[in-house]
Amino acid sequence: MTVHTAKNALEAAVEAARWAPSVHNTQPWTFALSGEEVSLKADTDRKLRVSDAAGRELLISCGAALFTMRTVLRLEGYQPLVRVLPDPDRPSLLATVRPGREAQADDTTRMLGGEIERRRTHRAGFADVPVPDSLLDSLVRAAMSEGATLTPVRSPDAVAVLAALTRAAQGVQSQDRRFSLEVIRWARPPGSSRTDGVPAEGYPRQAARTEPHFAQRDYAWRHDWGAQTDQGAATSTGVVTLLTTTGDGRQEWIAAGQALQHVLLLASAHGVSAAFHTQALEMDLLREFLRHELCAGEHPQMIMRLGVSFEAKDSVRRPVPDVVE
Ligand SMILES: Cc1cc2nc3c(=O)[nH]c(=O)nc-3n(C[C@H](O)[C@H](O)[C@H](O)COP(=O)(O)O)c2cc1C
Repeated sequence: MTVHTAKNALEAAVEAARWAPSVHNTQPWTFALSGEEVSLKADTDRKLRVSDAAGRELLISCGAALFTMRTVLRLEGYQPLVRVLPDPDRPSLLATVRPGREAQADDTTRMLGGEIERRRTHRAGFADVPVPDSLLDSLVRAAMSEGATLTPVRSPDAVAVLAALTRAAQGVQSQDRRFSLEVIRWARPPGSSRTDGVPAEGYPRQAARTEPHFAQRDYAWRHDWGAQTDQGAATSTGVVTLLTTTGDGRQEWIAAGQALQHVLLLASAHGVSAAFHTQALEMDLLREFLRHELCAGEHPQMIMRLGVSFEAKDSVRRPVPDVVE
C-alpha cells in the first residue's frame, strides 16, 4: 500500500473531483486547501438562474464531487472525515474533507476509483443489451448507503408517463427564451477551447429515437452540431430509474449527489452508462406531480436511463488552478 502524504492525497482528491458530472457541465465548485483539509464550496456564479433557481442541481453536482473526493482519499489509503454543511453562517461552504486514519482501500473502492475519469454521460438510445438485475440491486444499495433511494421503474405505463413528462418539459423549455438562452450559454461549439459546458462531441448529431422516446436537451440549438456516429441499432430506452430523497433541503441535495456519483461509478465499472433527463424536475408543477404520482411522496432528484453503449464520448473540465482558491 502506498500512502501519500495527507496533502498529496487531498490534491489528488481535488484533481479527481473535477471529473464529477454537473448540470450542463457548469462545474459549479471551488476547492480551498488549507493544512490538512479541503473545503468544497459552491460557485454560485455558475448556478443556472432560470432552470435551477433554488440551486438544487448545483448541490447535486457538488455532492457528486464530494463522493469523488471521498473515494480518492480511500484510494490514497485514508478514511475520509467529512462534515457536510459545517457552518450555517457560510452557506456556500458545502463540506470539509480531511484524511482520517490510514486504511487500505478495498476492491470496490479501487473499482470505483478506476471509473472517475472514464465515466461519461450518454445522450442517445442504448444497445440492445440488458442491464443485469444483480447490478441494479447493487446500484439500489449504493444509493441507499448515501441516504437516497434509487428505484428502477418497472411498469411500462410509469415509464411512458416519465417519457411524456420529459417531452412536455423539453417542449415548454425550448419555447421559453430564458431557458433556451441558458442552454445556449452552456453549449460548447465544435472546436471551442472552453473547458466547461457540454461539448458538441458529447452528443450525437442525430440520436435514434427510443420507444418510448425520452427527449434530449437541445444543446445544438439550430446548429448542425453533434458527433457523427453510426448508432442506428442503439434504440433501447434502457432501464429508467428515479433517484429520490425523503427530504428536500440542501443536505438531501448533497446526499443525492453523492448517491448519484456512487451509482454512476459502480454502473460504469460494469459497462453501464447513464442518460440523464432532468428537464421535468426543473418545472415545479411537474416535479410535484411526479413526487405524488410516481415517487410515493419522496422528492425526485434525478431521472436517468441506464444501459449499455459502445460509443466513445467526450467531455471537458477546467484545469486545477481554475477551481482551487
Ligand atoms: C444534476 C444534473 C442534471 C443533469 N441533467 C442532464 C440532462 O437533463 N441532460 C443531459 O444530457 N445531461 C444532464 N446531465 C449531465 C451533464 O450534462 C454532464 O454531467 C456534464 O456535461 C459532464 O459530462 P460527463 O458527465 O460526460 O463527464 C446532468 C448532470 C447533473 C449532475
